[in-house]
Amino acid sequence: MKVVVAGTGYVGLITGVVLAYIGNKVVCIDVDQEKIKLLRQGKSSIYEKDLDKYLLLAKDNLTFTTDNSCYKDSDVIIIGVGTPERQDGSANLDYVYDVCNNIIKYANKDMVVVIKSTVPIGTNDEVEKYLSSKRKDIKLTVVSNPEFLSQGSAIHDTLYASRIIVGAVDDNAFKVMRELYEPLLKEPYNVPYLEMNRRSAEMVKYASNDFLALKISYINEIANLCNKVGANIDEVTKGMSYDKRIGSLFLKPGIGYGGSCFPKDTKALHWLSKINDCELTLVKACIEINKKQKLILFNKLREDFNYSLKGKKITILGLTFKPMTDDLREAPSLVNIDMLLDYDADITVYDPIALDKVKKIYNNKIKYANTIDEAIKNSDAVLIMTEWAEIKNYNIDNYTKYMKYANIYDGRNCYDPVIMKNKGINYYSIGR
Ligand SMILES: NC(=O)c1ccc[n+]([C@@H]2O[C@H](COP(=O)([O-])OP(=O)(O)OC[C@H]3O[C@@H](n4cnc5c(N)ncnc54)[C@H](O)[C@@H]3O)[C@@H](O)[C@H]2O)c1
Repeated sequence: MKVVVAGTGYVGLITGVVLAYIGNKVVCIDVDQEKIKLLRQGKSSIYEKDLDKYLLLAKDNLTFTTDNSCYKDSDVIIIGVGTPERQDGSANLDYVYDVCNNIIKYANKDMVVVIKSTVPIGTNDEVEKYLSSKRKDIKLTVVSNPEFLSQGSAIHDTLYASRIIVGAVDDNAFKVMRELYEPLLKEPYNVPYLEMNRRSAEMVKYASNDFLALKISYINEIANLCNKVGANIDEVTKGMSYDKRIGSLFLKPGIGYGGSCFPKDTKALHWLSKINDCELTLVKACIEINKKQKLILFNKLREDFNYSLKGKKITILGLTFKPMTDDLREAPSLVNIDMLLDYDADITVYDPIALDKVKKIYNNKIKYANTIDEAIKNSDAVLIMTEWAEIKNYNIDNYTKYMKYANIYDGRNCYDPVIMKNKGINYYSIGR
């Protein structure tokens, strides 16, 4: 099948690579010239495990372009562009409609247009109406096919997907989609495949993401209460996880969720519920809890230093919103850097992957270290924002060796509090 994937970000690129790997002829298009230039050289534009390997494996079936005429002659067009939040929390669909306008311009036969971007319920219907109003001569059928990959394990999550959800209103569209994904439905992948109506498919995506965000916020609140009442969240979550209805995943307390999905998808669903006069108050609470949680370390630090951080050397370890990705979108580290800057702290940061990206945001307002040792030297306090393996496995004796005062505020519970205490470290973590 000839497939065009619009957008070579975390979703579009992985989708394009995997579809090419399983035998389709794929063209990936992006408006970002730099990304396409890199990809044409076989270099990945994002940090993602195994991506380089699969780019190579799929190379005979895969091309990259910025030329919109690539939509001509395609069987399937997959839209994987961003749908960022607007000021009011709603999803911005401008990029989706930009792609639609290019399809309208270049489509020359009946095609299936797949919306993989996360879009509010009803968008697929609206997009189909729009496309058919502009191109009455051909049939442009719209299919909802939301994406569930996690950054950091995106290739694996696509090949061995938890499920493929396909929402359509047309038998032929269902047939084309089944054909597209056929290899993944068989050994060794055996991906569960679910067909449903388009609005349900759109809702599966939001309901799933918002549920996970709720789970995180719930356990963060329980952890905060553990801190107050002398319980230990590690023991509590272990005890909870033996109940199969609860499970053990997404029960890890921390400094709040970030990334390009949970923050905007909670806001977008909340916005949609409000305009439909059916407000999701749980989701609203989750958004508020998360906002507060991101500053929990900063607030404790500020209190411990009597609200005076001017000139104090504060080190931040880990900048990305989670390990194994270079993504900084909505990362708790950024809010904390902003607050520390407001308080005139002397900030040094370290991250194994994202330093260059952070430099572009803060330039010379903060300092950048190339190793953990260098970052913590003479530091008054360390804030841990991302649980990179390198940080978790760091020799904790170095904290007392290199820091001016060994004050560690750990937002990801990387170390054992008892061991830290025995080493003479002033250690604050979440819910323990
Ligand atoms: N990142 C994730 O983990 C994830 C997971 C599931 C779903 N999603 C959803 O998938 C969508 C894409 O997310 P992402 O993280 O990949 O975004 P991204 O910002 O990483 O990538 C979007 C890409 O689209 C390109 N683009 C914009 N306009 C274009 C156009 N007219 N034609 C071609 N390319 C264009 C941009 O240049 C960019 O490279 C969003 O709706 C997101 O909510 C993301």
